Amino acid sequence: MTIKTATLNGVATIEIARPEKKNAITQAMYAQMADALDAAMADNAVRAVLITGQPGIFTSGNDIEDFMQRPPSSTESPAFVFMKALMGCDKPVVAAVTGAAIGIGTTLLLHCDFVYVSDEARLAMPFTSLGLVPEFGSSLIVPQLLGNVRAAEKLLLGDPFTGADAVEMGIANAVLPAAEVAPHARRIAERFNALPPGAVRETKRLMRRGRAAAINETIGVEGGLFASRLQSPEAKEAFSAFFQKRKPDFSAF
Ligand code: COA
Repeated sequence: MTIKTATLNGVATIEIARPEKKNAITQAMYAQMADALDAAMADNAVRAVLITGQPGIFTSGNDIEDFMQRPPSSTESPAFVFMKALMGCDKPVVAAVTGAAIGIGTTLLLHCDFVYVSDEARLAMPFTSLGLVPEFGSSLIVPQLLGNVRAAEKLLLGDPFTGADAVEMGIANAVLPAAEVAPHARRIAERFNALPPGAVRETKRLMRRGRAAAINETIGVEGGLFASRLQSPEAKEAFSAFFQKRKPDFSAF
């Protein structure tokens, strides 16, 4: 089982559990996570959702092999369905991040309500180096958070950054020792057991309302470009290089 789910004390946990592939997420895993979010939304006993990875790895992002074989081509694809469920989830979502959070691993954090990261976490949005473009609103949200020149380091160069950087950038709440990240995230999620769920739900909706139209419009534009770039010779070279464990060569493009 590559996605583990459990509901305990008002918290629905979605655990990415594929450590042998550094928690790379396949289409099937996205579908499982989308179903888990839908179930959490429908269950009155659930007051918050907790998304975790494995010790030392949150996720290495999209499964590149799956990506090459079954490229997401429409808003019906499981990655889109999952991200739509995440963005539409009106219960608080808390993320606990240890180790690497790459690509969608960082992008999805932009849509969580609370993010706790370990002191050894490494985040990155290396889309250009994969021949791709940013996804799910990150090309809008990251420049809004950082300003254009610092966003360029993260999105044009794809520079990795630390948990402390993520806090400074405003995409994470706090850095903690790795062993404390998941328990702390759970404690935050469990605090919603003592709060009125209707007020929490409406407040979360209000907090997102002002930006929703612009984010959704951006996601549409990004999605079309992302799908076509997946078929590009640049992306094919980047993905082949990853599996051949060599540096990509973009000199011919
Ligand atoms: N998709 C598919 N397989 C992946 C993967 C991914 N995103 N990330 C890692 N794997 C696989 C590797 O191919 C390897 O498989 P193998 O044991 O069959 O050779 C296994 O997971 C272990 O990965 P490895 O690269 O050896 O681990 P590492 O500790 O040296 O590095 C990472 C970890 C996360 C830094 C590195 O795997 C990485 O950069 N992954 C790709 C990240 C990425 O570009 N994601 C964006 C996708 S859009």
